[in-house]
Amino acid sequence: MVVGFIGSGNMAAAMARGWARAEQDSPSEMLFTDSGSGRATALAEEVGGRAVESNEDLVRQSDFVILAVKPAALEAVAEELPAPRAVLSLLGATPLDKLVELFPDSAVIRLMPNLGVEVNRGVICMAEPEGVDEEILEQSRTLLGSIASVHELPDSAMDVATAVMGCSPAYFAVVAEALGSEGTHGGLEPEVAIKLVGESLAGTAELLKRRTPFEIQTAVASPGGSTEAGLEALAAAGGADAFRAAYEASIARMRGN
Ligand SMILES: NC(=O)c1ccc[n+]([C@@H]2O[C@H](COP(=O)([O-])OP(=O)(O)OC[C@H]3O[C@@H](n4cnc5c(N)ncnc54)[C@H](OP(=O)(O)O)[C@@H]3O)[C@@H](O)[C@H]2O)c1
Repeated sequence: MVVGFIGSGNMAAAMARGWARAEQDSPSEMLFTDSGSGRATALAEEVGGRAVESNEDLVRQSDFVILAVKPAALEAVAEELPAPRAVLSLLGATPLDKLVELFPDSAVIRLMPNLGVEVNRGVICMAEPEGVDEEILEQSRTLLGSIASVHELPDSAMDVATAVMGCSPAYFAVVAEALGSEGTHGGLEPEVAIKLVGESLAGTAELLKRRTPFEIQTAVASPGGSTEAGLEALAAAGGADAFRAAYEASIARMRGN
C-alpha cells in the first residue's frame, strides 16, 4: 500500500517514523508534501520515502492519503485535489460530516492519533466510519495497528477523546519534566532522573491495565509515609484540578471558545 502524507509536520513525522520501524504491516512506500518549508524532503530522507512536487501528484500515486495539515488549511487543500481513493484525516476538531462533504467521491476516515505512534506505542481513535468499503477499512486497520492500538468511537466522542489521549502525552511530559528537574536539583544526573521518571510512567501504564487509579494511589501511599505527604501537597497545590483545567481548555479551543 502506498501512503501519501499531505503535510510533513510533527504528526506526519511521528507516524512515518513508526511505520519505518514497524516489522510488518507498514506501507510499501511513503510519499510526502509540504507547503514549501522543505520538511517533506527531510522527512522522506529520514524514513526512506519520497517527497512529491504537488498534492495532486501525491494523490495520483497513493492508495491512502493522510491529511496531516492544520485544520485551517483543510479547505484550500481539498479544493485543489482530485478525489483520492481513501482519505485518512488527522485533523483535530474536524467532524466526519465536514470531511465527507469535502471529499464526496472518496472513502473518508477520521482519525485522532497521539505521539506514541512514533515508537509503535500510539493510541489512535477512529470515528465510526460511514459507508466505507470493507476492504479499505481492513487495510486501514492493519496499517494503523502496526503503530498504535486502534479504538473506534462515535464521531461525537472524538473531541473528548482528543483531549484525553491526543493532548495527554504533552501533559505527562510536564509531569516528567517537573519530577526530573527536582531529581536533578536533588543531585541525580539529568538523564538518570528522566530515565527513572520515564520507567516509572511506563510501569504505571502497565499497572493501569490491572488496577484502578485509586488502587494504585493507595497501594503506593502507606499511612504516614512519604507518598502520602506528597499526595497531600499535590492536592493542596491543585494538582488534579490543574489537569482538569488543561482538559477544559483543550475542549474549549476545539469548540472555538
Ligand atoms: N501534533 C500532534 O501531536 C497531533 C496529534 C493529533 C492530531 N494532530 C493533527 O495533525 C495535523 C497536523 O498537526 P502537526 O502538529 O503535525 O502540524 P505541523 O507540525 O504544523 O505540520 C503541518 C504540515 O502541514 C503542511 N502544509 C500546510 N499547508 C499545506 C499544503 N497546502 N499542502 C501541503 N502541506 C501543507 C505544513 O507545511 P510546511 O512544513 O511547509 O509548513 C506542515 O508540514 C493537525 O490537523 C492536528 O490537529 C496533531
